[in-house]
Amino acid sequence: MTIAGRTPTSSGFYVSEEVPIHAENPVPTPSSPAPDILRCAYMELVVTDLAASREFYVDVLGLTVTEEDDEAIYLRTIEEFIHHNLVLRKGPVAAVAAFSYRVRTPEDLDKAVAFYTELGCRVQRREDGFVKGIGDSVRVEDPLGFPYEFFHAVEHVERLAWRYDLHSPGAIMRLDHFNQVTPDVPKAVRHYQDLGFRVTEDIQDSDGVVYAAWMRRKPTVHDTATTGGDGPRMHHVAFATHEKHNILAICDKLGALRRSDAIERGPGRHGVSNAFYLYLRDPDGHRVEIYTQDYYTGDPDNPVITWDVHDNQRRDWWGNPVVPSWYTEASPVLDLDGNPQPVVARTDASEMAVTIGADGFSYTRKDDTEEMPEYKQGEYKLGYQL
Ligand SMILES: [Fe+2]
Repeated sequence: MTIAGRTPTSSGFYVSEEVPIHAENPVPTPSSPAPDILRCAYMELVVTDLAASREFYVDVLGLTVTEEDDEAIYLRTIEEFIHHNLVLRKGPVAAVAAFSYRVRTPEDLDKAVAFYTELGCRVQRREDGFVKGIGDSVRVEDPLGFPYEFFHAVEHVERLAWRYDLHSPGAIMRLDHFNQVTPDVPKAVRHYQDLGFRVTEDIQDSDGVVYAAWMRRKPTVHDTATTGGDGPRMHHVAFATHEKHNILAICDKLGALRRSDAIERGPGRHGVSNAFYLYLRDPDGHRVEIYTQDYYTGDPDNPVITWDVHDNQRRDWWGNPVVPSWYTEASPVLDLDGNPQPVVARTDASEMAVTIGADGFSYTRKDDTEEMPEYKQGEYKLGYQL
């Protein structure tokens, strides 16, 4: 199996120069320049039981409460100096209300309005912000159906990095990235390239089907990723720890609290991104990743890494299986009126179908002539235990 036009490496993946991805049905490229996005900044999550969510995010994961009332809780990570990285808002349906990005200057909000207006998207702007702690903001229903927000003005709060007396063994340092489920990955990637994102990694097959892609503004592997599936939906929001042992400490704590059922997948080492990971599910089922130690991507000629979808180490470097729920379940996203966006089915091949179960196959060593042992076939060994 080879991926055309890309250079194989001794690690098993392929590298190439970044080029605009080919999409069969692209979103038009606006003539208006894109806003200059700095980084993913916060997610607004709608939760059905604010007390249960507070217990999970504050008491178990240790996020810091900046501000709270009966309707919403504003949380931040230890190294953060802006008001929040996560808003938990009480509501009837568990969903995502905003994927929010910070932009470089106040004028970038004018650019955001022009960029999305030209695309015919619904756009709202509020000078005093949509949530506490944030100033002038633009919210849009983007061409893929995701609720995107852009802001620059923000209330500063104390950065608690030096307050080691407050750090837990599983201390969460930063918001790292979002992950969005969308049916047409090349269409999404092409649009986010227009918005100024750079591609760092993707998963493809030899026919050129793209199953997932990772894109960044800040110089890490990603600020957001697109996972192929029925969408628009939110796959996960990811927070970073300093080191691997912090992630193990979170697992130990969940075990001690008899809450191991919050662990969906991992801990493990990703192939994609090279990061150490753990996937949790919050009380509403929103997926949260704890993530650490990916690599620097800030040079303009940073090589794009492409993984073969059949490489059994792409999603877990140790070859551990991906549980089926990780492929199939995700959170609804809301339109600007607060209603869940309709979900469109993916028509391209499904990563789960081509790698798991009777129809799927994967390899550990590409050139092996021996068949993979039965217990490893289809990456499904743990799935049978669910
Ligand atoms: Fe992730």
